[in-house]
Amino acid sequence: MDKKVTKIGVLTSGGDSPGMNAAIRAVVRTGIYYDLEVYGIKRGYSGMVDGEIKKMESKSVANIIQRGGTILKTSRCQEFFEKEGREKAYGHLKDHGIDGLVIIGGDGSFRGAQIFSNEYDIPCVGLPGTIDKDIAGTDFTIGFDTAVNTAVEAIDKIRDTMDAHDRLFVIEVMGRDSGYIALHSGISTGAENILIPEKRTDIEAVINALAEKERRQKLVNLIVVAEGDGFGGADEVARIIKERMPSQDVRVCVLGHIQRGGAPSCFDRVIASRMGYAAVECLIEGRHNIFVGILNNRMHFIPLNEAVKKKQKISDEWMKIVKILST
Ligand code: F6P
Repeated sequence: MDKKVTKIGVLTSGGDSPGMNAAIRAVVRTGIYYDLEVYGIKRGYSGMVDGEIKKMESKSVANIIQRGGTILKTSRCQEFFEKEGREKAYGHLKDHGIDGLVIIGGDGSFRGAQIFSNEYDIPCVGLPGTIDKDIAGTDFTIGFDTAVNTAVEAIDKIRDTMDAHDRLFVIEVMGRDSGYIALHSGISTGAENILIPEKRTDIEAVINALAEKERRQKLVNLIVVAEGDGFGGADEVARIIKERMPSQDVRVCVLGHIQRGGAPSCFDRVIASRMGYAAVECLIEGRHNIFVGILNNRMHFIPLNEAVKKKQKISDEWMKIVKILST
């Protein structure tokens, strides 16, 4: 029988994502509702290692549901991936009497949680907070919807000037290992080509398709590239197109970190609230060392061990849709 959880810690880790604040708020308020003490851990695992831990009250999370970033701040902490770092972190949690943890972050953060929960008697629950949507076992991650809508808004604006000048634009969106932002933003802005890390980029096919469009006098073209595309990002793609098709007026735009900021969408606020609430219920009910996702609009729980092994897969049908719709 698991020990009853009485004091829980919450932290945000890895790249921030819009909606993390809504998730923190949900964890704090649900914890307090169930008479738990809730502690905020600053700067992700770094704050755990350094002991930056503070008790939170209901009012600590007032007026944050609409704010991007994370009030707890975040980091990618290398020290936590060393035994000594985790030992220090455990000591600080024990000093505060913390006996349960909610980790809001991406797959790297879950890997940390998995190692920690295998070594120490502090149960962990992970919530998927990443704009990349690259975690298996959930249809959405907190922040993806906002990030992709930010990208769409920016690409729509670029389209106006692109059209005015009959230009070809290569736009780079975020996603070091994941093509979901590129796929969603590209499909919804009518991109001719979408290049992503999960699929091999066939630059000859891209050039042939552009040449065929040139023959049909289609002068406005949009290519969306995920930053982690194996070919080398937007600059490299643009360089090759310019070299092979000197008649094309090519421009590059890298959207960058603008995609990570801003007020979370309604969708992200709602899933963050549902997931934050479910995380606390899991800790209370003894469902430990799991990750909380939403599949088919229902809460879905999988062991952290499995969550870190699986990656979201992108089926070939996505690429077929892009091809058919851009002809
Ligand atoms: O959080 C995910 C992500 O935004 C990736 O899409 C991107 O590759 C990476 O973080 C950028 O990280 P940093 O802010 O450390 O440059």
